[in-house]
Amino acid sequence: MRLAEVERTFGNKASWDKPFAEWFETFVDEANQAVFRGNSACQAVCGNAIDLPAGFDLVYIDPPYISQRGVAVDYADFYHFLEGLCDYDGWQERIDWGSKHRRMVRQPNPWTDKAQIYAAFDRCFAHFAESILVVSYRSDGVPGIDELRSLMGRYKSNVQVAVFGDYTYALSTNKRSQEVLLFGI
Ligand SMILES: C[S@@+](CC[C@H](N)C(=O)[O-])C[C@H]1O[C@@H](n2cnc3c(N)ncnc32)[C@H](O)[C@@H]1O
Repeated sequence: MRLAEVERTFGNKASWDKPFAEWFETFVDEANQAVFRGNSACQAVCGNAIDLPAGFDLVYIDPPYISQRGVAVDYADFYHFLEGLCDYDGWQERIDWGSKHRRMVRQPNPWTDKAQIYAAFDRCFAHFAESILVVSYRSDGVPGIDELRSLMGRYKSNVQVAVFGDYTYALSTNKRSQEVLLFGI
């Protein structure tokens, strides 16, 4: 049981108060509706994106995001359940038992480091340069949209930017930031 005036360091009280089993029952049908049989064999793999082989028709990335203040989202901290599920066999060993909310152990990652993220994008674009490139992004990130456009322009002759002005993701409190898709064809 929790008191209403308890000091909260993360999360949303209503969500955290509801048992996981109830949430599961609420959404399991919805999740199952999203499963469909594709026309050809599919493969899901887990690992560093640039360690994958290249040569796909289209590569879509939705990388971690660094705000203009240089604050990065480390998914190992915030999305324990989903990140754990993606690496089910390694889940147990990846839990940081010393952290209050049982985050996953932090791994060095250029996508969450302001000094390295430019090189990370560049390596990724270079690696998949033969494919159509699509990047989900936000308008107030580091690198900025223009910087990202020119990074992509090193590998793609036709780079386009689509801005989705009124659309923000569900938990966003940042009303100034806009969702953006960059295409390199
Ligand atoms: C913005 S989230 C993507 C969320 C997902 N597209 C969705 O809508 O649910 C960024 C994801 O990139 C993953 N990630 C971070 N570094 C990565 C890397 N080097 N290679 C592959 N994935 C990485 C994070 O673990 C996180 O799941």
